[in-house]
Amino acid sequence: MKTNAYFRTAKQELLDAIKDVKHPFRYFTMATIGINHSPRLRTVVLREVQDDLALTIYTDKRSKKVTHLKENNNVCLLFFNHNEMLQLKVDGKAFLEADEKIIQHGWKQVKVSSKKDYSTSRDPGTKIKDPEMIEYLENVNHFAIIHIIPSKIEYLQLKKDKHIRVLYAKEPTGWEGTFLVP
Ligand SMILES: Cc1cc2nc3c(=O)[nH]c(=O)nc-3n(C[C@H](O)[C@H](O)[C@H](O)COP(=O)(O)O)c2cc1C
Repeated sequence: MKTNAYFRTAKQELLDAIKDVKHPFRYFTMATIGINHSPRLRTVVLREVQDDLALTIYTDKRSKKVTHLKENNNVCLLFFNHNEMLQLKVDGKAFLEADEKIIQHGWKQVKVSSKKDYSTSRDPGTKIKDPEMIEYLENVNHFAIIHIIPSKIEYLQLKKDKHIRVLYAKEPTGWEGTFLVP
């Protein structure tokens, strides 16, 4: 039995999530390694998927996740499609986009109503007395783009008759899949 078909399904699901805002893979959990090596999780939005499965998210460059990535860029991502009972776990390395032209292009993709998410006057995570106190910068933003380059993808689908679990590792020759005991 070949593992390729499951890989194609995984890739297609990720690509679908870019086009379909209601797709369950649209929102996923990203883990970074925090200060003191503690795991840190948060929900983020999948913005782009490249042919080589490089994944892109948007964030505020002052956020903790960015601080973490600068110290240690290993990340783990978790996608879950409850309709298909399909889970993807992605191990990879995260990189901050440095090309100002690409950042500007990304900024243009951000809906006007969401631009404020990257423009708070105070850093994200700062303590405040009241949500009414949140102020926004004008004509200044802290928008950043993070790319995640996967090295391993674990596919797990629960089915009544037989669960399917496959580990894909990125080798110089391409993605190699191995079935695992679920
Ligand atoms: C539905 C949902 C979607 C979110 N999408 C993003 C996102 O795309 N990028 C982002 O930086 N934070 C996003 N957040 C906020 C993060 O979960 C997190 O609270 C924030 O980024 C601060 O994380 P940090 O302090 O670990 O960096 C989202 C939160 C929710 C509830």
